[in-house]
Amino acid sequence: MESKEKKYEKLKKIREKVLLSGGEARIKKIHESGRLTARERIHLLFDKGTFQETGVFMTHRSTWPGMDKKKFVGDGVISGYGLVNGRKTFAFAQDFTVLGGSLSEANARKITNLQEMALENGAPIIGMNDSGGARIQEGVASLAGVADIFLRNTLASGVIPQISAIMGPSAGGAVYSPALTDFVFMVNGTSHMFITGPNVIKKVTHEDVSQEELGGAITHNTKSGVAHFLAEDDEDCIIMIKELLSFLPQNNLENPPSLTTNDRPDRTEPQLNEIVPNDPKTPYDIQDVINLVVDDGKFFEVQALHSKNIVVGLSRMNGHVIGIVANQPAHLAGVLDIEGSIKAARFIRFCDAFNIPLLTFEDVPGFLPGTEQEWRGIIKHGAKLIFAYCEATVPKLTVITRKAYGGAYCVMSSKHIRSDYNVAWPTAELAVMGAEGAANILYRKDIKNSKNPEEKLREKIDEYETAFANPYVAAGLGYLDDVIMPEDTRPIIIHALENLLNKRQELPPKKHGNIPL
Ligand code: HXC
Repeated sequence: MESKEKKYEKLKKIREKVLLSGGEARIKKIHESGRLTARERIHLLFDKGTFQETGVFMTHRSTWPGMDKKKFVGDGVISGYGLVNGRKTFAFAQDFTVLGGSLSEANARKITNLQEMALENGAPIIGMNDSGGARIQEGVASLAGVADIFLRNTLASGVIPQISAIMGPSAGGAVYSPALTDFVFMVNGTSHMFITGPNVIKKVTHEDVSQEELGGAITHNTKSGVAHFLAEDDEDCIIMIKELLSFLPQNNLENPPSLTTNDRPDRTEPQLNEIVPNDPKTPYDIQDVINLVVDDGKFFEVQALHSKNIVVGLSRMNGHVIGIVANQPAHLAGVLDIEGSIKAARFIRFCDAFNIPLLTFEDVPGFLPGTEQEWRGIIKHGAKLIFAYCEATVPKLTVITRKAYGGAYCVMSSKHIRSDYNVAWPTAELAVMGAEGAANILYRKDIKNSKNPEEKLREKIDEYETAFANPYVAAGLGYLDDVIMPEDTRPIIIHALENLLNKRQELPPKKHGNIPL
């Protein structure tokens, strides 16, 4: 009979093997590619000594072709839980050194077990993806594993925060698990996401495209909007994930974590009075406004590189977490287009699901005109933004800094769609359209028949501006709660926010709404 000592020795040896994953040569290759190993990523993420691994000994049970001789303890994914900045968190990291981190039926089960535990325990789950996709040798059994993950992603959506980091390849249908989660991080230069790679594309559409151009971190952060964050390397990525987590509640039944701050809630900011230019056509940077209003000027921007005409992100006001949505006059005059509407709608729905109040800064000339936008469906995509704002029951506050024109006035968290507290700066213009456009439509004949059309146009523009290019008509109708000096924005918004924090609002009972997808 084997002695106890020998049994202990055996365990020690297996554990040593576990730490080596696919072997030293493959680990070296990972490091040479600029990536960290799955275990290094896990160690960076969790507070020291808190990580508890699950399914350590699990391995696949396939036999073809010779797979029974190709077994790795743990089977290409490390899963478990521990503390991240002192808060319970679940995470898995795919191990590319083991069969390319491919998803087997067994390692998918490690992931789904973890997803279920995270859901039952009401804590965030983070997936660090680095995988060649479904394990080819297992055929449909691995596909079943992938689908099992999708189901649990969907069931957990809106209940616990789900975060994906793409830190290597993410190919084929496996890309859909990250896409089902709340936020996708990508690492510049080493991560790729695509449904079909460059070779298949070449065969099918005869397009020549590199892996990087097709599905690299820059592509998905700028063009497609699939990714929300661009990290410089693995370490940077994990630091950013931790920062994101610091704004999030553990689950949908909790409030986001408030912090104490040394930034005074009654801080007025005279610089804000200088930001909006006199000429309504001159741009300014809405980030300057945000930075001057929020705690310590700290703003954690989401999708910073995609659809820059709208800015979204997380911040704090007197320590309370808020989600900010802001038109950006410095990019395309802050117009609402398809990408911007989708970007903001998704962010608003995330905030609403996780009890994060919304603060909207509005300076918007309207929806972007043109056949390109119309034919691609700006009607249904713009409707997503309306739906998201209308449906959101978290406290909603709006500051109109300048233009609030046309349909965009209605959409951007107006009082009519249940915003709680709306104010405008004296520079605000709430109207169906800009004065020049309005004068040209209403008085076209008068202007044309006038002896001096230019002078007539100027006169009509002035008339319209006097009538509508101000906040007082809307304020008189009760569509604004107040008109405030820009410098007072921080104290006034904090005061309103703190009075709204216990807001409870119900939607009519239903299975779910039908957001215009
Ligand atoms: C089994 C795989 C694998 C896979 C990679 N490997 N992908 N093993 N199943 N899906 C193995 C390789 O055979 C190799 O093993 C090791 O991982 C490293 O792979 P390399 O090709 O040497 O690495 P690299 O050059 O870095 O290329 C990485 C890669 C490439 C771009 C990911 O391996 C690749 O294209 N893999 C296939 C991607 C794919 O099409 N997957 C299926 C997607 S469909 P050895 O032993 O030689 O080191 C899918 C379905 C989901 O996922 C369905 C959802 C509905």
